[in-house]
Amino acid sequence: MRKLLLQLDSSRLPSVFDQVVAYDAGADDIMSYGGVTETDVRDLIHGCIFTRGPKDLHNTAVWIGGSNMSAGEQLLAMAQDALFAPFTVSMMLDSNGSNTTAVAAVVKIEETLGNLEGKKVLILAGTGPVGQRAGGLLAKDGAHVTITSRKPEQGEKARQFISARFNVQVEATTLNDPAALPELCKDIDVLLNSGPAGVQMVPKSAWTAAKSLKIAVDLNAVPPLGIEGVEVSDAGVVREGVVVYGAFGVGNFKTKLHKACVARLFTRNDLVLDAETIADIARELVAKKQ
Ligand SMILES: NC(=O)c1ccc[n+]([C@@H]2O[C@H](COP(=O)([O-])OP(=O)(O)OC[C@H]3O[C@@H](n4cnc5c(N)ncnc54)[C@H](OP(=O)(O)O)[C@@H]3O)[C@@H](O)[C@H]2O)c1
Repeated sequence: MRKLLLQLDSSRLPSVFDQVVAYDAGADDIMSYGGVTETDVRDLIHGCIFTRGPKDLHNTAVWIGGSNMSAGEQLLAMAQDALFAPFTVSMMLDSNGSNTTAVAAVVKIEETLGNLEGKKVLILAGTGPVGQRAGGLLAKDGAHVTITSRKPEQGEKARQFISARFNVQVEATTLNDPAALPELCKDIDVLLNSGPAGVQMVPKSAWTAAKSLKIAVDLNAVPPLGIEGVEVSDAGVVREGVVVYGAFGVGNFKTKLHKACVARLFTRNDLVLDAETIADIARELVAKKQ
């Protein structure tokens, strides 16, 4: 039976990137819809679940993407609502690659440090989709997470969102002057940059002065890079006594994870892959490698 992936994308044009990865991960056909809104979801999902008998429904799965993470979250909630046993299909949310990117970064941090209980983590520009999900997962691991934002109200909104979504406590602090960075980095164990493409968020002098720092991860692949002194292809090398990862260093694992998750969707008909469940799959991949 052909493996069919229903692609629900909140952006006008369904992501070609997501389609290519899905084919590479084993989907036989992709039924793509762009500009999908909440009211479209129920009928599209019903088209999936009433066409094949329950025992064959693991051959149909749903992918939710698009550039807007909160729109994606709403589509996922609607899609879940449209299911009822035994007519269920597996589904995955990865709007803008934010779940797989955040998870890949978090798993690299876990691999490097082992137990994260009590570790201090600073997430630069942690108000975006990637930073929020990474912050939630790291806090779930027991780390003390602080996210930065240029605007106090934006930081507070993200702090509240992460706390509610992941049932954790995180801190938010305002960062609009690089002169504040040495103090913010002073006793951290982990530095994660989830700032936008093409923006240097921290100069080398600030993170190299942080004597407690053990790992620095930069997710920005576009020059100027986010953490000065960390190269885009760095993948666990040691620079200035700190284990460092650049965006490609994390991105290779992210792509592997993305494919593994899509393949996993077709193994059963009741999976919901979001940050935590994607993290479980990432940890399995790491464990298999060891
Ligand atoms: N490798 C991959 O597959 C992959 C996939 C997805 C994303 N990424 C990368 O991951 C990073 C995070 O992605 P994202 O989508 O979460 O980021 P984002 O939403 O574009 O940006 C994150 C935060 O950066 C802050 N910001 C925006 N412009 C800024 C500026 N000029 N200076 C300082 N801060 C600024 C904003 O926070 P405030 O307004 O609160 O300050 C924003 O919430 C990006 O570098 C992205 O390219 C990589």
